[in-house]
Amino acid sequence: MSQPFAPTAEHGEDLFEVTLRPRNFDRFVGQRRVVDNLQLALRAARARGDCLDHLLLSGLPGLGKTTLAGIVARAMGSQLHETSGPALARPGDLVGIISNLEEGDFLFIDEIHRLPRAVEEMLYTAMEDFVVDVVLDQGPAARSLRLSMKPFTLVGATTREGLLSAPFRARFGLQEKLELYDPPELAEVVTRSAKALHVELESDAAHFLAERSRGTPRVANRFLRRVRDLAQEAYDNRIDGAVAAEGLGRLGIDCHGLCALDRRILETLLQHGGGPVGLKTLAVAAGEEARTIEEVYEPYLIRTGLLRRTSQGRCASPRSYEIMGQEAPPPQREPGLLF
Ligand SMILES: Nc1ncnc2c1ncn2[C@@H]1O[C@H](COP(=O)(O)OP(=O)(O)O)[C@@H](O)[C@H]1O
Ligand SMILES: [Mg+2]
Repeated sequence: MSQPFAPTAEHGEDLFEVTLRPRNFDRFVGQRRVVDNLQLALRAARARGDCLDHLLLSGLPGLGKTTLAGIVARAMGSQLHETSGPALARPGDLVGIISNLEEGDFLFIDEIHRLPRAVEEMLYTAMEDFVVDVVLDQGPAARSLRLSMKPFTLVGATTREGLLSAPFRARFGLQEKLELYDPPELAEVVTRSAKALHVELESDAAHFLAERSRGTPRVANRFLRRVRDLAQEAYDNRIDGAVAAEGLGRLGIDCHGLCALDRRILETLLQHGGGPVGLKTLAVAAGEEARTIEEVYEPYLIRTGLLRRTSQGRCASPRSYEIMGQEAPPPQREPGLLF
């Protein structure tokens, strides 16, 4: 079964995402603090005639990092060059890209925590002094050549800020973390998307989708897309609450906004007496990669109080028993409180 919260886009979804991606701050919903900070930095840089400081955007998948990178570059009137950590396997790959940058251009590196060490270190001097040291030849004949480049802005995006080394992180003058969105913000996202897709979305349907989109615009838009298919086929291109509910039911999303995989995670915890259960065990039981569980499924379960992370592993909460229709065991007394 396809996973409704899969972190990566599914077939045909890339184009859909590009179409719905806001192109300026006015259309970017929520994240007020981040947007204010970025707009201030942009105004100041423009007034000085400088490049924008290097920017690190962190946050869970689908919260708008790539979108913001595009908005910021456009606001500076600059060209954006996109690449990713895994695509820059060798220092030579980076040299190829940065030697093509014009003054004031933006270089966007997605999944920047996955850059190989050698490439990361090469970026240090590029970010600080706009030079890179290229090592030519190997062994005794090796020599190093210093290339200078035009001033540019590096925008890094990461879902795992904690994996960036301290010296690397310190070189980003601007660091912003995107948070999960509230349901009213997500309702606004899907309402705007519905307009762009020329489908009628009633306000109760927008809220229904928003409540179940686990704080993530990409998920909200994905739900809208699926529900739109249903509306187009069977309901005259009109989405009301009932159509939204039917659509999400078909995706296996329950009334708590949980999908089959979430329920499998909770079930595994309950089968182990409520935990603690190690991440690897959970991953095997759920049939999903540990990283995806950690980055995509867990944050929402934690946020809604269904799962706790402890030093020994993952634990269920009384509410997860309730949702799974099981009786919670009586609370255990803390050892220290016995006497
Ligand atoms: N603040 C926002 N307002 C409106 N739509 C958004 C917002 N953030 C994200 N989106 C939508 O969600 C999709 C995923 O965002 P994206 O920037 O690709 O996330 P990330 O790069 O963090 O994984 C975008 O295509 C866009 O349609
Ligand atoms: Mg992205």
